[in-house]
Amino acid sequence: MLNVLVTGGAGYIGSHCCKELYLQGYNPITVDNLVYGHRENVKWGSFYEADVGNPDQLQDCFAKYKIDAVMHFAAYAYVGESMEAPLTYYTNNVRNTINLFNVLLEHRVNYVVFSSSCATYGNPVSIPIDEEHRLSPINPYGKTKRMIEEILEDLDIACGVKFVSLRYFNASGADPDGEIGEKHDPETHLIPLVLDVAAGKQKAIKVFGTDYRTPDGTCIRDYIHVTDLARAHILALEYLLNGGKSTAFNLGQGRGYSVLEIIDKVEEITAKKIEIAHTNRRPGDPPVLVASNQKAIRQLGWKPEFSSLADIIRTAWRWHQKI
Ligand code: UFG
Repeated sequence: MLNVLVTGGAGYIGSHCCKELYLQGYNPITVDNLVYGHRENVKWGSFYEADVGNPDQLQDCFAKYKIDAVMHFAAYAYVGESMEAPLTYYTNNVRNTINLFNVLLEHRVNYVVFSSSCATYGNPVSIPIDEEHRLSPINPYGKTKRMIEEILEDLDIACGVKFVSLRYFNASGADPDGEIGEKHDPETHLIPLVLDVAAGKQKAIKVFGTDYRTPDGTCIRDYIHVTDLARAHILALEYLLNGGKSTAFNLGQGRGYSVLEIIDKVEEITAKKIEIAHTNRRPGDPPVLVASNQKAIRQLGWKPEFSSLADIIRTAWRWHQKI
């Protein structure tokens, strides 16, 4: 059974990946410092509490388990915070990842699946965005992801490390079995915040801007179910194990929904009236982000199966009622 080190395995996307790895016959080993991750999310495989920024802890972990491949999720992921505290992001997302890569090279681990983001593209010049689109991130968070992609490209040339960078669009939904889900503190993402209103925890959802050049004036995003993301990680790993070349794949549903469409769907699924507060645009929000997912479909054999908007919101709501 292959041992897969999953940094950030106690987080939202990482924990869903551990479940899929386990179900598909791999042994996930979560490394997480539990700053944003939750211990109770680690239900599949082993847990090693450690900070990716701590070389001694990582050395110890790599010595304890024979690691065959790494899935690297551990990172800070708040775009707004990255604008205010860029060094925190460069330190955690870049410096600490370099630390991980040093240990990985020492232990001759040759396969890396990297958790990247559509934030690497910046403001799109064409929609849908395919992997050839220019990479021009507009915030430190997106820049850190781009930097790691570039470092991996260099490591492939220099040391033969094979990697896949997975550029997620809007991760959403929860485990269809209801075992794990999204729990951020603070929460900034649209769907859980709308569900807070449905649950009576918040009075209204702020809609950030209604004057975009989109059909209803609100921003359009490509929401992709976290279980579909998780399955793509296993396919990416198997692509590498089968000799695939290092590359990047977009992970999105390939169609977009506006903020108001999300709110309407939440009203329909929860049967609750959602109060809306119109507010100004949030700085840095592009009007439309929609993926071309054709490369992942073609080369990985990936197929989003849980990503209808109804399934995303139904699974998220079920989870939301448990927390
Ligand atoms: N929005 C609101 N009100 C809210 C929260 C969000 O109107 O209270 C809107 C945003 O303006 C945006 C959409 O809902 O148009 C989705 O916002 P999210 O914060 O849920 O997600 P983002 O699209 O901003 O962020 C996602 C990922 C990031 C990634 C980014 C790339 O969560 O990790 O896409 O742009 F960096």
